[in-house]
Amino acid sequence: MLILNRSASEPRTSEITSETVYRQRRELLKAAGLFGAAAFFSPLLHAAPAAFQSVPDRKNVPGFLREKLTARKGGQNATGEVLTPFEVVSTYNNFYEFGLEKSDPAENAGSLRMEPWSVRVEGLCEAPGLYTLEDILKPHVLEDRIYRFRCVEAWSMVVPWQGFPLRDLLRRFRPSTGARYVEFTTLKDPAQMPGQRTESLPWPYVEGLRIDEAIHPLTIMAVGVYGRSLPPQNGAPLRLIVPWKYGFKSAKSIVRIRFLAGQPSTTWSKLAPAEYGFYANVNPAVDHPRWTQRRERRLPGTLFSPNWRETMQFNGYGPEVAGLYRGMNLNRHF
Ligand code: MTE
Repeated sequence: MLILNRSASEPRTSEITSETVYRQRRELLKAAGLFGAAAFFSPLLHAAPAAFQSVPDRKNVPGFLREKLTARKGGQNATGEVLTPFEVVSTYNNFYEFGLEKSDPAENAGSLRMEPWSVRVEGLCEAPGLYTLEDILKPHVLEDRIYRFRCVEAWSMVVPWQGFPLRDLLRRFRPSTGARYVEFTTLKDPAQMPGQRTESLPWPYVEGLRIDEAIHPLTIMAVGVYGRSLPPQNGAPLRLIVPWKYGFKSAKSIVRIRFLAGQPSTTWSKLAPAEYGFYANVNPAVDHPRWTQRRERRLPGTLFSPNWRETMQFNGYGPEVAGLYRGMNLNRHF
């Protein structure tokens, strides 16, 4: 969300969580025989900038993307909240296609070829087809959206993304009335993605949203962060951002969008249905079976002085999104 005016959903200052849960999640994979290396964490000692300053881009950004980023609708961080520095956003990542440690994606994702890139659109819509990244971006004006980002592992960031409302993209494909869900699939290419040469997750990574969630104005397709094109480790060239949901809903490096009548089978809910639900709305009242979701550790912080804060219902975006779930038992449909 581009937070231009202070609203009920803006980040507040107080604090959060431990690295234990990060390791516990990997214990799940280990217990399932899905990965060998024990995970650990490197203390984050970066200073936090007070305001959003663009970061220089890589050299060979395609012209159409560079122009879009330059011409974007700017925003300001009116939250009073400290942004998580680019160095942290781009080095503390979950992108299992490039490894299981937080530092692996930044180290390994250089092998991802982002050009040419295309997205296959399928399912219940009137304009299916193969769209190049340029086709996808052409009619959209990029915006700055400064959002809280809350991982199910109980760490969080505040990130200035550049993107455009997903609804504006989806409406171009003219979904039929029967389309009640949208599924997003990440690239599967073990030659480029070393993590896919292992069975750490069932590949490709698949996520999904109910259509009303997908067309909610807060939901964006992101192509940039900190005013530059997304680094590969952050899901270049195209990734989802759904700020009221746990971060695993935001599929990276998307190559397929499919409109469906029924709820898609998504990666984490398939792997551990008792731990990761389809909805995955940030909810401090529903603990993960192995750790609390009441608090979160805002990055950056250090091993010795973590920034703890209380987690907010819907990650603080309740005023905007609670209506989507009226009448639902959010403890059951987690
Ligand atoms: N998308 C793919 N394809 N593969 C992944 O492993 N990890 C998810 C999500 N999207 C993941 C993914 C999880 S668990 C989180 S918390 C966020 O990406 C992390 O995004 P970031 O690295 O940009 O902070």
